[in-house]
Parts: sequence; structure tokens; C-alpha cells
Amino acid sequence: MIIGIVAIAKNYAIGKDGKLPWHYSADLKHFKATTMGGALVMGSNTYRSIGKPLPGRLNIVLSRSAQIDTASDLIFLRSEKEAIDLTKFLNCDLFVIGGAKTFAEFTDHVDAWIVTHVPVEVADADVFMPTDFLDGFESVENRDIGESLVVETLRRAT
Ligand SMILES: NC(=O)c1ccc[n+]([C@@H]2O[C@H](COP(=O)([O-])OP(=O)(O)OC[C@H]3O[C@@H](n4cnc5c(N)ncnc54)[C@H](OP(=O)(O)O)[C@@H]3O)[C@@H](O)[C@H]2O)c1
Repeated sequence: MIIGIVAIAKNYAIGKDGKLPWHYSADLKHFKATTMGGALVMGSNTYRSIGKPLPGRLNIVLSRSAQIDTASDLIFLRSEKEAIDLTKFLNCDLFVIGGAKTFAEFTDHVDAWIVTHVPVEVADADVFMPTDFLDGFESVENRDIGESLVVETLRRAT
């Protein structure tokens, strides 16, 4: 499956100044537990923000231009199509982890979303999800993970 995983504020903000606009250890823990052992695909901005491959997962970084050194757990690809083609050879889920530009490229390919609802408005954010990004998906689970955060799982409606 191709799964989008994102944390969004009430006003759909996801990023500010190249970083997450918040720090919630419960969400980082949830992200790690959910994606561990899987494959991640991310845009070059998000990779720069994280700064290194995330351990225990195959890290796929998309860029049309950047030169990123590859490592044993890091693959560097030029298009979302290359990443989608690769899923045929993966025996794990592919998690699309952002940011907004990358989520937009995978909109038609995501089978499910895992959304952390962050109960704040980030007025001065500079990266947002489109307000309709969950259209066509149905909620299958809501889970309280602490720190006032709720993780919602949604699957593409058939
Ligand atoms: N709240 C969350 O859950 C969450 C998750 C992830 C990120 N974020 C935040 O979001 C922000 C970054 O998001 P962003 O939208 O600016 O950038 P991004 O999606 O991380 O990266 C965009 C870059 O990725 C490359 N790219 C994207 N799609 C591609 C494709 N189909 N083919 C080839 N290359 C592709 C391009 O790189 P080149 O320009 O190098 O060609 C593009 O400029 C940061 O603030 C980050 O902290 C938030």
C-alpha cells in the first residue's frame, strides 16, 4: 500500500521555515512506530529538514536537481513515477512523508492516509495541505495518542 502520513494543524498548516511548526514527542513516537520497517518517500526539502536517513526504514528522496549522496538505506530518485514503480519490488508499505509538494505528486496514488490532528492554528506557517486532500477517503479509526493529539486513519472510498 501507498500511505500518506502527515500532521496537520487546524488551519491545515504543516510547515514553517523549513521545519515542523511544533514539537510533540507523542507524534514522533507514533511516526516512528508506524513507519518502522517500511519504505519512506520524501521531497528534498523534507530530507534537508530531517538531515539524515531515518534508521530502520528505506529512505527515498525525490529531487529533480539536488545531488544527494546515496547510502545503504537511502535512494535518490528523480520522479514520483520512479518511486511508484519501485513499490512492485518492495514487500512493505511505502509511506509518503511529505512535504506538501511531494504529497501533491502522490495524491492520485495514495491508498490510505494517517493524519495526526494537531489542535492549534499556525497563523504564520508557510506550508499547508490543500483543504480537500481527504476528499474521497473515509475514516476508519481515530486514536488518542496523548498530548491532545488524535491520529485518524482513512482509506480510499471504493
Ligand atoms: N507536518 C508534517 O507532517 C510534515 C511532513 C513533512 C514535511 N513537513 C514540512 O513541510 C515543509 C517542506 O515541504 P515542501 O512542500 O516545501 O517540500 P518537499 O515536498 O519536502 O520537497 C519539495 C522538493 O522535493 C522534490 N520533489 C517533490 N516532488 C517531486 C517529484 N515528483 N519528482 C522529483 N522531485 C520532486 C523537488 O526537489 P528539487 O527542488 O530538489 O528538485 C521539490 O522542490 C517543511 O517545513 C517540513 O518541515 C511537514
